Amino acid sequence: MIEKISRNFFLHVSKNILLNKAAKRWGLRLGASQVVAGDCIEQMVSKVKELNKDGFVCTLDNLGEFVMSKEEAVAATEQIIQTLEAISKNKLNSQLSVKLTQLGIDIDRKFCVQNMYRILNTAKKYQIFVTIDMEDYSHCELTLDVLAELRKTYNNVGTVIQAYLFRSVQDVKNLKGIPLRLVKGAYKESNNVAYQDKRLIDENLLELIKIHLLSKSYTAIATHDHQLIDRVKKIVEENEISPDQFEFQMLYGFRNELQQQLLSEGYRVRVYVPFGTDWFAYYMRRLAERPQNITFALRGFFSK
Ligand code: FDA
Repeated sequence: MIEKISRNFFLHVSKNILLNKAAKRWGLRLGASQVVAGDCIEQMVSKVKELNKDGFVCTLDNLGEFVMSKEEAVAATEQIIQTLEAISKNKLNSQLSVKLTQLGIDIDRKFCVQNMYRILNTAKKYQIFVTIDMEDYSHCELTLDVLAELRKTYNNVGTVIQAYLFRSVQDVKNLKGIPLRLVKGAYKESNNVAYQDKRLIDENLLELIKIHLLSKSYTAIATHDHQLIDRVKKIVEENEISPDQFEFQMLYGFRNELQQQLLSEGYRVRVYVPFGTDWFAYYMRRLAERPQNITFALRGFFSK
């Protein structure tokens, strides 16, 4: 019960535009620096170099949501292109993750697709794969439409499918052959479109993973759930899935010991590394997922 209230509270706060704007001026506060790799490219580069040195591969997220004007979306596009340049210049072993809301999808679809073309052109030049993060349900169909359009020209782009949505089994089947990140889902969705029961979400995630792996498609399994990871290891073993066909992904700053363990067992582990000044909504969603993460926030609060 308390968990549900706290989840709803943090998800609600994550969408507060005034707080999101104010937080940009605060710098990384409330413990956010434990899960956000700095507020500029230089700080991010040094963190990713360390991760690469330890054997992890990465995907970078130049944080940003709630873009309200074309100017903001163009500025976000420029920053993302600079991130791609930094990956190449510093020889980082990293992919890129983007959100379509950051690139103006809520303003004008065509304009957003043009921004994606610019990003994918640069990414292609440096042979960098780009994943379009999946946002709330109101953006799901739109994101899949944009992906289909982009895939006509680029093969270095994929997306994320959320196991809490009823529609996801069909979506994964439709996306056979396209690299996908499979997750439980981070937003608050209604029971008309999404499972609410944790066990059903877990079972659906395993089902999606099986479908995509068995269709010989590249599969990123993005979870911190050790029980689920153990079950995936069994599926992979039983079906003789090649290590080149899948990877585990976890968020920067979460379950470092589990990340390390998977790496030492020989699995490919990709760390999702968010950075930038626009950290508030991302951090609030992480607090919503796991109230225990509040200890990050409390420690951060008292140490300032
Ligand atoms: P969940 O939070 O359900 O935890 C399951 C169990 O694992 C817990 O009960 C506990 O036992 C253990 N556990 C989890 N975290 C722990 C911790 N920190 N310490 C100790 N034990 C812990 N979502 C989305 O909607 N769109 C997206 O594009 C993405 N992208 C994305 C990328 C990556 C790399 C990841 C890892 C996740 C996402 N997500 C996402 C978020 C995802 O949908 C989901 O909300 C979170 O990963 C939380 O769910 P988990 O599967 O990690 O396990």
